[in-house]
Amino acid sequence: MLSVRGAVLTACASIAVAQVNGTTNSSTSNCNPYVFDYEGNRYNWYDDDEVVYNGTTLLGNITNIVTAVVANSTFANYPDEYPYPPGIVITIQTAEGIFEKGYGYADAGMQTPMKTNARVEVGSNTKVFVGTLLMQAVEQGLMDVNDYMTSYIPDVAVTVVNSDKITIRHLMTHNTGLFDYGDDIIRNSLGSRQNMTESYSPEELVNSIKGRTVGFAPGNCTEFSYSNTNYVLVGLILEAVHNKSLVELMNEGILQPLNLTGTTFFEGSPDANSLDSHGYYWKYDTMTSSDAILLDTTRWNLNQGWAAGAIISTGRDMVTFARALGKGELFAKGTETFELMNGYFRTSNMALYGFSGYGYGLGESFAPDLHAHGGQTLGFRSTFVFSVDQDFQVFIAQNEAAESTAAVEANQFTTFMPSL
Ligand SMILES: *[C@@H]1O[C@H](CO)[C@@H](O)[C@H](O)[C@H]1NC(C)=O
Ligand SMILES: *[C@@H]1O[C@H](CO)[C@@H](O)[C@H](O)[C@H]1NC(C)=O
Ligand SMILES: *[C@@H]1O[C@H](CO)[C@@H](O)[C@H](O)[C@H]1NC(C)=O
Ligand SMILES: *[C@@H]1O[C@H](CO)[C@@H](O)[C@H](O)[C@H]1NC(C)=O
Ligand SMILES: *[C@@H]1O[C@H](CO)[C@@H](O)[C@H](O)[C@H]1NC(C)=O
Ligand SMILES: *[C@@H]1O[C@H](CO)[C@@H](O)[C@H](O)[C@H]1NC(C)=O
Ligand SMILES: *[C@@H]1O[C@H](CO)[C@@H](O)[C@H](O)[C@H]1NC(C)=O
Ligand SMILES: *[C@@H]1O[C@H](CO)[C@@H](O)[C@H](O)[C@H]1NC(C)=O
Ligand SMILES: *[C@@H]1O[C@H](CO)[C@@H](O)[C@H](O)[C@H]1NC(C)=O
Repeated sequence: MLSVRGAVLTACASIAVAQVNGTTNSSTSNCNPYVFDYEGNRYNWYDDDEVVYNGTTLLGNITNIVTAVVANSTFANYPDEYPYPPGIVITIQTAEGIFEKGYGYADAGMQTPMKTNARVEVGSNTKVFVGTLLMQAVEQGLMDVNDYMTSYIPDVAVTVVNSDKITIRHLMTHNTGLFDYGDDIIRNSLGSRQNMTESYSPEELVNSIKGRTVGFAPGNCTEFSYSNTNYVLVGLILEAVHNKSLVELMNEGILQPLNLTGTTFFEGSPDANSLDSHGYYWKYDTMTSSDAILLDTTRWNLNQGWAAGAIISTGRDMVTFARALGKGELFAKGTETFELMNGYFRTSNMALYGFSGYGYGLGESFAPDLHAHGGQTLGFRSTFVFSVDQDFQVFIAQNEAAESTAAVEANQFTTFMPSL
């Protein structure tokens, strides 16, 4: 998989150089620089109005800033590994202020520039929000992380293997062994427009793993297996303990208190009114570079992500959230609760997913006080990292996603970016 990715990059280099030189005819390369929609319509994309990438190196100030601010994080690999981006949004906040900018294209076909602070899908960074809601509920005495899921959602639990042995802690730290429904439902969404826009209820997402084997027994302390199913179950548990919808809980627990007006826990298929950009997906039909095509996946139904990945947000909101979280502002017990949220679970195999530790919806990225998560939906990839002591918060997103195996991830700019 890794070599395939590499091949695509290499094969595309000649196109990028041509574009840097102002040439728009790219049909001479074996790498297909087109965007496809599900009907097979094809259009050119990528012009050099503002060149940010020349085929080998990300040019300009992004490189400088990213290198300077997060030199010691796994971000350092970002520029070299970057494939051809329709667009990027980057937001970096330090005690000195905020750097924020959009680069490239929000709509690769129409070549609409990516706005600064554009709304994007944050994918699995949604789990940081869910983890925050969970800690709030624990703080309010509504639940304990050592409680079994069966106590809260008995009707759903009966359909889940080993549910009588699965605690909330196991769910939050991906220590259940449960199959990831995303490997079926979300992957299948690449197959057709119908599948991409299909809505599922949370219960249907959970039910879809019926009959799938479990990887290990819940609580096996040497095993970590990232599974979106875990977070859908936590979302259902939160709804049950509060008797409120997850949308309400997000609004009341996080979005309104922090005035995150650019953030939505989104239901359904987004469109131009809910996102400031299209989403695209690199698809390798036969794993050769000539078959690499870019699908327009903007209308992927976020109900397929739900508690595991349905948030749309902006860089500015994300860095505001990160700073408040680090300072304990979202909790009655302040940083004490934030520290509990980071009671990191550690296994050697979680490095494959890019984590050195994993707490309640938040990971540690190979350095103390480097809190991180990543996100991928069908159309967006993002990375979210912050340090409390050094007071920096970073959110970077691209409106392009790709085949996401651990091997590919390990060589992406965000090695801590699990799928979805
Ligand atoms: C781009 O322009 C430079 C300078 O004119 C030239 O040396 C180079 O060959 C050109 N590259 C392509 C791919 O046309
Ligand atoms: C693009 O390049 C190909 C191959 O060199 C050539 O056949 C074609 O006529 C070119 N198209 C345009 C619009 O220049
Ligand atoms: C891209 O830019 C970098 C930095 O200036 C340079 O080292 C590299 O050779 C360039 N690559 C191409 C293909 O022009
Ligand atoms: C980086 O930004 C500074 C200040 O905005 C500007 O002067 C400089 O030319 C930029 N450097 C590059 C490589 O774009
Ligand atoms: C990065 O690492 C260098 C040396 O390894 C250290 O001096 C510096 O303080 C570190 N910076 C951050 C932001 O951690
Ligand atoms: C659409 O999704 C269904 C159910 O997940 C799956 O069986 C089917 O293969 C998918 N269709 C395509 C064309 O991928
Ligand atoms: C944990 O899971 C691994 C892999 O399935 C297995 O080899 C190991 O025996 C398990 N450990 C315990 C304590 O059950
Ligand atoms: C609240 O509780 C009632 C009664 O059990 C139930 O019908 C309803 O679905 C619950 N609402 C939410 C949002 O969980
Ligand atoms: C909330 O944010 C919006 C814009 O993002 C701003 O106009 C408004 O003044 C803010 N409200 C408060 C109470 O800070």
